[in-house]
Amino acid sequence: MSEISGVLAREVLDSRGRPTVEVEITAGAFRGRAIAPSGASTGAAEAWELRDGGERYDGLGVRQAVDNVNQVISPALVGSDPAKQASVDQILLDLDGTPQKKRLGGNAMLAVSLAASHAAAAMAGVPLHTHFHRLMDEVDESDLQPAMPTPMTNMISGGLHAGGNLDFQDVLAIPVRRVDYPLLLEWLVKIYNRLGRLLQDAGMEGRLVGDEGGFGPRLGGNREAVEFVVRAIEAAGLTPGDDVAIALDVAATHFFADGRYQLRAEEVSLSSSEMVDRLEAWTNDLPIVSIEDGLAEEDWEGWTELTERLGDRVRLVGDDLFTTNTERIQRGIDAGAGNSVLVKMNQIGTISETLAAIALARRADMSFVVSARSGETEDASIADLAVGVAAPEIKIGSIVRSERLAKYNQLLRLAEQL
Ligand code: PGA
Ligand code: ZN
Repeated sequence: MSEISGVLAREVLDSRGRPTVEVEITAGAFRGRAIAPSGASTGAAEAWELRDGGERYDGLGVRQAVDNVNQVISPALVGSDPAKQASVDQILLDLDGTPQKKRLGGNAMLAVSLAASHAAAAMAGVPLHTHFHRLMDEVDESDLQPAMPTPMTNMISGGLHAGGNLDFQDVLAIPVRRVDYPLLLEWLVKIYNRLGRLLQDAGMEGRLVGDEGGFGPRLGGNREAVEFVVRAIEAAGLTPGDDVAIALDVAATHFFADGRYQLRAEEVSLSSSEMVDRLEAWTNDLPIVSIEDGLAEEDWEGWTELTERLGDRVRLVGDDLFTTNTERIQRGIDAGAGNSVLVKMNQIGTISETLAAIALARRADMSFVVSARSGETEDASIADLAVGVAAPEIKIGSIVRSERLAKYNQLLRLAEQL
């Protein structure tokens, strides 16, 4: 067995042109490489993204995080077995020693942790998804089989990803009829193209896109955005609700102020219960099957009410609420808050903790969605993660822009292998 002989980090750029951390791990003749993604609408409890401040890249440089890998992490990891992900990650956690990974930076730690997975897969001569599946088997009792996830694909972007044109962050299309992945992809592309045309016909910008490639039109309200996507599903010759349904990422944390939900597009300010009323009304007359962050990250009581009222028919996905953190997920389980966990590796900062979050969700009969960030790169590891842990759903963004297609295309390759 080879051991880690080198850990090398460098600063590269993400899909927003912002610096991020890339790490290469060498183990004898084998190599693993990974890049940390980066969020914009981040949860307060997320692993800390270490940035330099100062003038370079308007303060967003990651040279300190890179130095932490090259000078602190590298000497500690040389000689370890990359296949022992739990021990690799424990070394990182011990070196950091802070609750939110502020010392080394969650960006530095995740890139190292994920590069170790790649190196281990190369050493074992197996695809990354198989390696993830083996790691998952160590923490999950059930006999999980690798499987293709269903993509929920961003059609209209709002909120922090599109300059505040809408309050809600994403309106997504999610196929609900079981068909092969290549056909799903064709459907999603068709819906996207029909939507662009519909927006243009309505005098709206049907070409300008937000950070994740979804259209960013200036619509009158959030509901109108959903209605446009429903019409695009029809225009693609598909039946809304039967073939393809709607998922929302409300990202409500980001318009929650003074204890109320401030919907600018509609010029109203809602209490938590009123916000639930509104979401409930929508799910009654629109084909919405999944709502992410329908309420804010600290509105635990509201989340319990939301889950009591809608949980039997809608997936209520916690993103900022859970931040892929087992303590927060456990709090959700205890409080009956949410019934699905959004899984973002860099929200928690190591592969082991990511798998622990998934295992906890599965034990509690919660669903989960493996998710990209709004700042992404050519690193396609989440496609392999989703397959290896049999994620029911994956959320990558829209079906344009290569940092998104890197994942959709990797899923095409994996669909052949399964
Ligand atoms: P983020 O957005 O990467 O900016 O956090 C993605 C999401 O909210 O799901
Ligand atoms: Zn989200």
